[in-house]
Amino acid sequence: MADQALAAEPTRRGFINWFLGTTAGAFLLAVLYPVARYLVPPPAGESASGTVTLPIKPDEVKPNSGQIFKFGNRPGILVRTPAGELRAFSAVCTHLNCTVQYRPDLSHIWCACHNGHFDLNGKNIAGPPPRPLEPLVVNTRGAQIVVAKGA
Ligand code: FES
Repeated sequence: MADQALAAEPTRRGFINWFLGTTAGAFLLAVLYPVARYLVPPPAGESASGTVTLPIKPDEVKPNSGQIFKFGNRPGILVRTPAGELRAFSAVCTHLNCTVQYRPDLSHIWCACHNGHFDLNGKNIAGPPPRPLEPLVVNTRGAQIVVAKGA
């Protein structure tokens, strides 16, 4: 009888250890996997071809205005300066990655998250952004606006 109890004990203990081990392992996996997926950025950060034809016609962009567009899986901003020139930048703020916007009242690009300001060359001029916006190349082909990654 005692021999049976001793023989059964390791099996029961082994089962409990296995159960707790796999439960703990499953729990850790269930917690750590989403955290790791959140922390690791997605692999493609921009347009695969590096060139995007916008669904906006050049005459739809009025002077002293800006429009957000999709450049790959990131936002871009197309600006027509008060002088009438078209310019484009990545719309991802260089501070903490908020999307910037054009402020016609200030005639420059602004980030609402922490009051960051960029001039019409994308240069950071006030607030916390540490670097200029990434410039993009704008070309008009007839009624099309084509934006490409800068050199
Ligand atoms: S994210 Fe743009 S100013 Fe902070």
